[in-house]
Amino acid sequence: MRVGVPKETAEGERRVALVPEVVGKLTGRGIDVVVERGAGEEALIPDAAFTDAGATIGEPGEVWGSDVVVTIAPPQPAQIASMKRGALLIGFLAPLTSPETAVAARDAGITALAMEAIPRISRAQSMDALSSQSNVAGYEAVILASEHLTRFFPMLMTAAGTIPPAKVLVLGAGVAGLQALATARRLGAVSTGYDVRPEVAEQVESLGANFLDLGIEAAGEGGYARELTDEERAAQQKALEEAIKGFDVVITTALVPGRPAPKLVSGEAVRGMKPGSVVVDLAGESGGNCELTEPGETVVREEVTILSPLNLPAHMPEHASQLYARNVLSLLDLIVPKPEGENGGAPQLQLDFDDEIVADSCVARDGEIVHDGARAAVEGKGG
Ligand code: NAI
Repeated sequence: MRVGVPKETAEGERRVALVPEVVGKLTGRGIDVVVERGAGEEALIPDAAFTDAGATIGEPGEVWGSDVVVTIAPPQPAQIASMKRGALLIGFLAPLTSPETAVAARDAGITALAMEAIPRISRAQSMDALSSQSNVAGYEAVILASEHLTRFFPMLMTAAGTIPPAKVLVLGAGVAGLQALATARRLGAVSTGYDVRPEVAEQVESLGANFLDLGIEAAGEGGYARELTDEERAAQQKALEEAIKGFDVVITTALVPGRPAPKLVSGEAVRGMKPGSVVVDLAGESGGNCELTEPGETVVREEVTILSPLNLPAHMPEHASQLYARNVLSLLDLIVPKPEGENGGAPQLQLDFDDEIVADSCVARDGEIVHDGARAAVEGKGG
């Protein structure tokens, strides 16, 4: 059995799907691993580190011809078309937003498992790549904000007088938001979190942050938030306009699966912030949480810097790759059971479609798209 690791091709992508530590575990089990030449370059992992872990370095044809191909971003349709029928693709395959990936997987007759569709159940926690990468994004958002803020984060008591701590507001307290709150606090800021899922208040407070309660509750299915009604949205924006005024930094992370990001920060709210303040909008890929956000750009509006970095986990490729690779290993542990005993035989793929981890994450198999969200996305585009 051969696992292939291609060099990522998406613009700005610096991560690699497997790191030598994980490659070593796979080769130790008798699984061949072929890594595309230079795949780890951007994460500062040389080819030699992969070969030391037992991998071979190969050209794209060899990598894409493997039994299992592991990527980070959705591959190009032509890359999927070059896979063997019946082979397995694992990666962030964006089932809700990248219908071309699902169609290519269907047409190539491969099995495709989307890391982001793995259910968030206890048994799958170690495979939760959404969480591992959101952690990186939440941390990076605060570091970026601190670079652009014209003020200190911590309180400073100096001979030249006292500087008060920065006030940081995090809108959306999921995985990224909670990491942003924790990081801002570690840097000495006074942090406040806000969310529409009421159970989050306790999590925010456990990090030593304040919880901003605007009285709007919108818990949806599967632990996610639902989209607000027009009235709720208007009330939320209005309340936030008032609340945001006192903050030096606003970090926004609010997302609703499969929907455009909710607009939480109006132009009016930005106008109310002190000059030199910073907004970091992590929802740029889904349109942004701030009305003045320009996805992928850093702009200054009303003397406030608004950053909308795309794919923040790629800004920290070493640890982001390491965590992602461990998530993938955990999935592989499930679907390629470790051979038992000393001469336990050759490793084999055992996909149990009655297991909700495999069933929920499966986008396509046997020439069919089997993921409801992916099917809806394809039908929406006339595929
Ligand atoms: P996400 O990235 O989908 O959204 C970020 C946050 O934005 C969420 O907390 C959401 O409630 C909030 N949000 C959405 N619309 C909003 C609005 N209009 N105003 C304010 N906030 C808004 O969320 P993420 O980080 O993926 O977490 C989703 C859920 O998954 C959470 O309940 C989390 O606790 C849960 N989870 C469970 C895990 C497990 O049990 N294994 C692991 C990780 C997360």
